[in-house]
Amino acid sequence: MEIAVIGAGVVGLATAWRTAARGAAVTLIDPAPGSGATSVAAGMLAPLGELAYGEEELLRLGLASRDLYPAFTAELEDATGLSTGFRGDGSLQVAFDADDLARLDDARRFQESLGVPAETLTGREARRLEPLLAPGVRGGLLAPEDGSVDPRRLVPALLAALEKLGVRIVRRRAAEVIVTGGAATGVRLDDGTALPADRVLLAAGPWSGGIGGLPPGAVPPVRPVKGQVLRLRTSGPFLTRTLRGLVRGSAVYLVPRADGEVVVGATQEELGFDTRVTAGGVWELLRDARDLVPGITELEFAEVTAGLRPGSPDNAPLLGPAALPGLVLGTGHYRNGILLAPVSAEILTAALLDGEVPEIGRPFVPDRFEVRA
Ligand code: GLY
Repeated sequence: MEIAVIGAGVVGLATAWRTAARGAAVTLIDPAPGSGATSVAAGMLAPLGELAYGEEELLRLGLASRDLYPAFTAELEDATGLSTGFRGDGSLQVAFDADDLARLDDARRFQESLGVPAETLTGREARRLEPLLAPGVRGGLLAPEDGSVDPRRLVPALLAALEKLGVRIVRRRAAEVIVTGGAATGVRLDDGTALPADRVLLAAGPWSGGIGGLPPGAVPPVRPVKGQVLRLRTSGPFLTRTLRGLVRGSAVYLVPRADGEVVVGATQEELGFDTRVTAGGVWELLRDARDLVPGITELEFAEVTAGLRPGSPDNAPLLGPAALPGLVLGTGHYRNGILLAPVSAEILTAALLDGEVPEIGRPFVPDRFEVRA
């Protein structure tokens, strides 16, 4: 079976790895693998903190993917000898003021209503775990099973694993899906080269809707949602786990890494394909992060970047067959691309190679949007 994958973000890379491991001949097409939102993302694996009320199926998908991470990264590290920066040391959500605490309590109730136990902490208990938290922090929720991964290590490890499996990487832009006899039969590159394939996976993040050749019903309804992210550096002890906070109603997160990097994110801006970083974005992130962890102002400022999350109309991914035979969609991961990569790769591999979507992926098949498309 010949598979063409359009897009080498974390979802395209992970699915290329899984399909190639099952013996498919895989071609991965991307002008700059891993350079989109994947390279900006902090890599927190904290499904509960990112959710809104009612996103029960998405929570189950997120928890399943988080639970796949230890084996997924161990297998990748064994196969390549490269670290992925995976850490399974939990996450802590905290509240800054009384309103934030009320919202955190709502989140706890929602979580418990789904049968997922929550570990509630007072402000003092939270500070015992993370002594650098501000004295005013009101309380927290601990998720010991959460963790983080370093997307900038994950990408080279996935690329090395693909190379070992003989995956062909074409560093060009995919211009269109080739349609013959009413089915996808390959991909045409921007230089006119045609790459035939038995199945095509479209995993081009927010650019997935702009690929040529698709009949209107098969175009994924995705849009770019900009996120600005800071990278700071520390040489001393800082946080020991991923921290997510609500500060006067706005969300901020800090993801510490073993090498001293601390990633602070993220803004949420609907500005089309704009990746400029702004003074206001940096200010908001530092303001909120400093309210939670005052010592952050001592850290070295290393980098600010902006990425484009692929948002879908219901904020959930599109996983499975498109309205064009031979085409499978793997996009719309919005704020959860890194978290959902392992489970998405399993679902998409089954869709591509077996022609079926496993149970856990069924709520996310793209035909839920067909009426609107
Ligand atoms: N998952 C974090 C973000 O998208 O900002």
